[in-house]
Amino acid sequence: MTYARIVGTGSYLPENVMTNQDLEKLVDTTDQWIRERTGIERRHISTGETTVDLAEQAARRAIDAAGLSPRDIDLIVFATSTPDKIFPSSACILQARLDIHGCPAFDIQAVCSGFVYALSVADKFIKTGSSKKVLVIGAEVFSKIINWQDRGTCILFGDGAGAVVLEASEETGILSTHIHSDGQYEDLLRVPYGIGDGFDQVRAGKGTVEMKGNEVFKIAVNTLGQIVDETLLANNMTKTDIDWLVPHQANIRIIKATARKLRMSMDQVVVTVNEHGNTSAASIPLALDAAVRDGRIQRDQILLLEAFGGGFTWGSALIRY
Ligand code: ACO
Repeated sequence: MTYARIVGTGSYLPENVMTNQDLEKLVDTTDQWIRERTGIERRHISTGETTVDLAEQAARRAIDAAGLSPRDIDLIVFATSTPDKIFPSSACILQARLDIHGCPAFDIQAVCSGFVYALSVADKFIKTGSSKKVLVIGAEVFSKIINWQDRGTCILFGDGAGAVVLEASEETGILSTHIHSDGQYEDLLRVPYGIGDGFDQVRAGKGTVEMKGNEVFKIAVNTLGQIVDETLLANNMTKTDIDWLVPHQANIRIIKATARKLRMSMDQVVVTVNEHGNTSAASIPLALDAAVRDGRIQRDQILLLEAFGGGFTWGSALIRY
């Protein structure tokens, strides 16, 4: 049997850091409120770098870590909700920057679940024998679609990019992926305007994230609990089999709720939300890369990745690293 095995990880953050104290000067909020309700202390905010600029750095680091060169890559799957352009896709722009020619390259738009969706698609390309070495990216410049006067959302998000290289292998790698969506909740979380109205509302400043945070919070906690059960059941595993939880980094309280459900100590949970805020599709590969590079995640350990986001979309991946 062929598995998709992670052979390299990489990430990149804009240099510019925005602290909670900086946000106190923009909106009616406090460092204490943000820390207590979200766990976020700071986030990186682009000062001009685009999603593909960040992605290129993360991709080069992941390809280097895999000991490969860009031309070895035979598929690029790029998760983002903040693409540089309407088209070409961010995947195609990145492909040109990496001087790769001819392999398929496409974007996936599943907001905060984007990386898990991209991983799921890439896994299937490898399992069916269509691809051998796949670059999977999650990258966002969410700061461009934030209303910096809305304290309910502007304190939450940050910019960044993460990447992995997957390789076809006889050794186990991705054990299973599970992706879902339910479009009926659009009113709870969305950017309401865009191409559909010819950008008129975007020009009027309304092309920004709207969220009913409290309602999203409750659904996220329940749904992530269910996806954890689904993932363990599909693999005939129990909670004690998981070595590391690598969750989407939206809110420390959501992360803790999932860890409690798994009866996992927070020492087994990779947390970066304090440093990065919610970087949407970039958050899981950023967290994964941090824990791989500092040596916490070791070969052969079992990792559970999970995410929930706009759409609604949600998903998970169980991986033997
Ligand atoms: N500073 C101070 N007070 C604030 C702030 C702020 N930044 N934001 C809201 N408040 C106030 C509210 O106005 C409210 O005041 P009131 O009681 O006088 O009406 C009070 O704080 C409580 O507001 P809630 O919205 O109930 O606060 P909650 O504890 O739910 O925290 C938060 C808000 C952090 C947004 C939380 O609901 C959350 O994390 N939601 C989920 C986000 C998420 O996971 N989204 C999915 C991924 S994102 C994506 O896909 C794009």
